[in-house]
Amino acid sequence: MDGQKPFTIGILTSGGDAPGMNACIRAVVRTGLANNARVIGVANGFEGLINGDFRVMGPRDVGGILQRGGTILQTRRSMLFKEARGQREAIRRMNEAGMDGLVVVGGDGSLHGAHALAQQGIKVVGVPASIDNDIWGTNMAIGVDTALNTIMEAVDKLRDTASSHSRAFLIETMGRGSGYLAVMAGIVCGAEIVLVPEVPVSVEEVADAVEDAYRRGKTHAIIIVAEGANIHTTDLARILDEMDVGFTTRVTILGHIQRGGRPTAFDRLLAARLGTRATTALLEGQTDVMVGLQGREIELLPLETVLTHPRTANMEYYDMARMLAR
Ligand code: F6P
Repeated sequence: MDGQKPFTIGILTSGGDAPGMNACIRAVVRTGLANNARVIGVANGFEGLINGDFRVMGPRDVGGILQRGGTILQTRRSMLFKEARGQREAIRRMNEAGMDGLVVVGGDGSLHGAHALAQQGIKVVGVPASIDNDIWGTNMAIGVDTALNTIMEAVDKLRDTASSHSRAFLIETMGRGSGYLAVMAGIVCGAEIVLVPEVPVSVEEVADAVEDAYRRGKTHAIIIVAEGANIHTTDLARILDEMDVGFTTRVTILGHIQRGGRPTAFDRLLAARLGTRATTALLEGQTDVMVGLQGREIELLPLETVLTHPRTANMEYYDMARMLAR
């Protein structure tokens, strides 16, 4: 507190949206208000910070949003904010609005933006939200569980038609450079083979796995391909058809459907916990940190540490997916 002036918290969502962002916004607004702070919603991510796209948020402004996908604050990927002049303008706007601290909800790029502001003296706490689950320091980011459930539902449906027609389905999942969603989908959907960016495979290896499934009498083959894998999904389908592996192939690119929808209970709870802790951390005077789920606990981690540790693939899960496919 600064005399009579309440502590003012800004909140923005940035980068690709993730189901559960709204639950997090709600948690930040209501935790702030419960602690006599003022909360300002920043529209359109860092772009809105630069443009002063601000509105004071009351408790009713976040009513009825807990179960909604997307983000009521809107989100952007700002190129201007990557430049010093963009950051300088954002800081000027924050000072003008009397913002004492900022909660940044987003993925890797957004957390880099948060760190850049913190290094220039702004109090900032980051909240990991990205379906890619590529952020070091948190077991799960907001949105991952919902995206995985969406994939699971889609693959279950595709398996029905794959079985009826004795086909191999190549199903492409999102994740940028991370194979997390693909590997987990491989386990929970019982895929024959999973292709991820972290483990390059040859076309022959994929063909062997599919042919093997055919020989063992399977009525379908499910091949999950992460979008960042070393072989492109449609190229792979064409080559498999040319090689004659027993099944004919079909391709489904799941795309942005993975980013939408009602957040699962897990994502709502995670978002509520991370949002609440991010707000109390700001009020305690913490800065340049990210809130993360470590084991069962929410912990604070320096953003510098988070951003300098690339999250590596969990080979235990990858091997499990392969073993269980037999
Ligand atoms: O980072 C989230 C993500 O959905 C990635 O998985 C994907 O590669 C990318 O964003 C898609 O970005 P856009 O929404 O700009 O098409």
